[in-house]
Amino acid sequence: MTVFVLNGPNLNRLGTREPDIYGSRTYQDLVELCEREAGRLGLSIRVEQSNAESQLIDWLHEAADAGADVVLNAAGYTHTSVAIGDACASLPGRLIEVHISNVHRREAFRHHSYLSAHADGIIIGCGIDGYRLALEHLALAG
Ligand code: DQA
Repeated sequence: MTVFVLNGPNLNRLGTREPDIYGSRTYQDLVELCEREAGRLGLSIRVEQSNAESQLIDWLHEAADAGADVVLNAAGYTHTSVAIGDACASLPGRLIEVHISNVHRREAFRHHSYLSAHADGIIIGCGIDGYRLALEHLALAG
């Protein structure tokens, strides 16, 4: 089954966006890293990015209907979106929440996530490598 790898607002700007925090690797690098890792693990994946909350929710509904596992970096919506949290709550598959930066070393408003209570696992502060770790976990934990 296809794993959904969903990315929220501003992640399309990786590479130029605050590189001191998010690193110099681009969104395209992130997509390629996920595809390479998925190939190695024998996983089918679908990688998406949107700046729109409604689009992220629609993809979560698609994943729910498919019974698919999800790797989700909801970016800024992590800290604001009850609606994305609600969509995560109804996922029958596994949910791994990923953050590139260590949000707990940053501003207080980044310490709360509306998603974490619904996540099976959370990977924070490992850079874009966190996506690789999330996919590896999903593949190895079956
Ligand atoms: C982020 C952390 C969020 O606080 C921030 O709004 C982002 C990216 C991360 O991957 O580190 O856009 O989710």
